[in-house]
Amino acid sequence: MMNFNEQENEDERVLGRLRQPGDTEEKALRPVTFEDYSGQTKVKTNLKIFIDAAKKRGEALDHVLLYGPPGLGKTTLAGIIASEMGVAMHITTGPSIEKAGDLAALLTNLNENEVLFIDEIHRLNKSVEEVLYPAMEDYCLDLMIGKGPAARSVRLDLPHFTLVGATTRAGMLSAPLRDRFGMIHRLELYETEDLMEILKRDAGLLGIAINEEGLRNIASRSRGTPRIAIRLLKRMRDFASYLDKDTIDKEVSDYGLNALDIDAIGLDAVDRRLLTSIADIFKGGPVGLETLAACTGEDPVTIEDVYEPFLLQNGFLHKTPRGRMLTLRAFEHLGLTPPPSFIAGMKSTEVQTAPKFENISIEDWQNSNREGENN
Ligand SMILES: Nc1ncnc2c1ncn2[C@@H]1O[C@H](COP(=O)(O)OP(=O)(O)O)[C@@H](O)[C@H]1O
Ligand SMILES: [Mg+2]
Repeated sequence: MMNFNEQENEDERVLGRLRQPGDTEEKALRPVTFEDYSGQTKVKTNLKIFIDAAKKRGEALDHVLLYGPPGLGKTTLAGIIASEMGVAMHITTGPSIEKAGDLAALLTNLNENEVLFIDEIHRLNKSVEEVLYPAMEDYCLDLMIGKGPAARSVRLDLPHFTLVGATTRAGMLSAPLRDRFGMIHRLELYETEDLMEILKRDAGLLGIAINEEGLRNIASRSRGTPRIAIRLLKRMRDFASYLDKDTIDKEVSDYGLNALDIDAIGLDAVDRRLLTSIADIFKGGPVGLETLAACTGEDPVTIEDVYEPFLLQNGFLHKTPRGRMLTLRAFEHLGLTPPPSFIAGMKSTEVQTAPKFENISIEDWQNSNREGENN
């Protein structure tokens, strides 16, 4: 018998947003033009205008910061920016740039108008960040040559380049770094229709047969995240072959999604465990992030970056100054009756629905991230 048990570990979790070893075809599926990049209309429209203008002037595009939960298409979008600009992209990550000298080497290797993509840019260390400021602002490097009294500083001119930074946590970026980006774009969780479009394109590229109902079923249970949708598509291909069917239809996808323990709205066992813990142990909350993490054995950063955005956006959870609280909708979804203390508390606080993720401004988001760290 096949074993479809959900693994508890985020690294292996089917609905996990982070990259997994099985996501190998991801590169091949990455769109390289705006046309193939579905959804994120606002971000796309803005970027197109600025890219057009920069190209007309023959200048480098202004620096761009992309932020939002993992798997929403930040790396993909960085690549599209470079290819629409018609320039090469150099890729690196915040933690891999250890010394100021490493960054200097990267920067001096760039050609005019090229894109430097720094993933996880919130993890740059302070001394590296300081080298970045004049590079971003004036396209120059201040280098110290020699030591002691003989030391002197030289200024080195750099080519005009575009820094594209990506982060899951805009709140952890220092203000001086954030201020040096000309554009800051937040990627949103995707609508089902957009995910269906993405899946349709990818199924075509992978040679997977799937009908409209199959597409909708997978898309609506992928937590608004393309990376998860694509992963589920591949799993459903395996279920189709197990069930001896040549097309992923409603029956195959229902069977597969149930076998993977993914419920009708896309919550998996870990999501339900988080919600159930808040309901049972904390009577609906409020509960601080660290406490919740300790009680569920999950990592606080993972809870915040990976699980929460979807639970917040869908009104299962809301954040209060005193911690996370369940909503009535969450109790209903879990089939639990809210305790009297919860109902009483709800009436007194008047916060009954969660603020939608998409309505949170960058400042709110930063503040809520900071709150999270103290909780
Ligand atoms: N808007 C989109 N349209 C089509 N495919 C997308 C889109 N966004 C993401 N993807 C797909 O999802 C996968 C994960 O995206 P990625 O850019 O790696 O996310 P992030 O860098 O935000 O974690 C990519 O391989 C890509 O194929
Ligand atoms: Mg990425």
